[in-house]
Amino acid sequence: MQNNLYRLIDRLCDEHSLSAAEYEQLLDRLTPPLAEYAAQKAVAVRKAVYGTDVYVRGLIEISNIGKNDCLYCGIRRSNRGCSRYRLSEQEILSCCDEGYALGFRTFVLQGGEDIFFTDEVLCGLIGKIKSKYPDCAVTLSLGERSRESYQALFDAGADRYLLRHETADPDLYKKLHPEAMSFDNRMQCLKNLKEIGYQTGCGFMVGAPHQTNRSLAADLKFVEQFRPAMCGIGPFIPHAATPFAQYHAGTLEMTLFLLSLLRLMDPGLLLPATTALGTIDPNGREQGILAGANVVMPNLSPVTVRKKYELYNNKICTGEESAQCKSCLSRRMESVGYKIVTDRGDRKPFIIKNKINGSNDNATV
Ligand code: 5AD
Ligand code: FES
Repeated sequence: MQNNLYRLIDRLCDEHSLSAAEYEQLLDRLTPPLAEYAAQKAVAVRKAVYGTDVYVRGLIEISNIGKNDCLYCGIRRSNRGCSRYRLSEQEILSCCDEGYALGFRTFVLQGGEDIFFTDEVLCGLIGKIKSKYPDCAVTLSLGERSRESYQALFDAGADRYLLRHETADPDLYKKLHPEAMSFDNRMQCLKNLKEIGYQTGCGFMVGAPHQTNRSLAADLKFVEQFRPAMCGIGPFIPHAATPFAQYHAGTLEMTLFLLSLLRLMDPGLLLPATTALGTIDPNGREQGILAGANVVMPNLSPVTVRKKYELYNNKICTGEESAQCKSCLSRRMESVGYKIVTDRGDRKPFIIKNKINGSNDNATV
């Protein structure tokens, strides 16, 4: 019976696909040796595509003001205790200057759904970053917007967009979000982003309140079918000023196992070892790399605002200067045999043998 599980991992490695029921079975019956087996395969596959390179993205948290009220999130609108800020264009550009000098070639502008950041404001900002640093990629992570807005930002030069789907289980989606938010709209946004031509990232939390292995299996199946360029996953971590304050955080073990499964499902996937993973365990990010991740996202935000972007309690890297953050992560990656590279870090094409039709056609993702 146990052998069966190892055979599922082998099959995922060969065919890059399993049924939702098979994913669920793997999650239900996770043991340390099974995780180790998946991690070894994931590392081998990752090395074949990316070697020992780890890509970095400079994360700039441009605003913690927003109209959303996700139940899990420390900067949700209802949290009156959150001290609000918005970076000026000049402050954002200074973060990019500093980041460029440190070797960053991707800037991620992340923020709540802040109505100050209209298309006009953002297009101007993106244009300035791209003309000053044409060799850099600009990634946006600014939540749900209209298709027209996504198109305008893309036309202004944005290369990538991160919008975690949060969960592929519509019932769970309802439990994690206020009435005003809709699962269907989230999915439509992701579809729009991909159609427009963004390198699109989705993602989900691990161990969120009310989440089951069946929901996580649905997430895996969704990623398999959506074929994003990136997928950001990290453990849920409670924030004291949210309705989920009393829930437990997601586990390191489950997050690492999911990273390995995602790597085997899509060898070319850009897969970050997230700050949340580094928060639940002091060596979480290193372990993430050793489970198959290939991206880290050090913080480039001004130190003065870092503590205010508190999605969850005890978030790490809120006291360090950007240069310290970068060199700390470089050392951490080197300690496990990997190196941070000065590169845009685009997704590498990966050939998936189309076994589903029994033909030898290759599909490039
Ligand atoms: N724990 C972990 N991750 C969280 N996020 C928001 N709140 C939390 C939390 N309490 C994640 C969500 C969101 C991203 C910006 O941060 O997945 O998409
Ligand atoms: Fe939705 Fe913060 S309010 S993730």
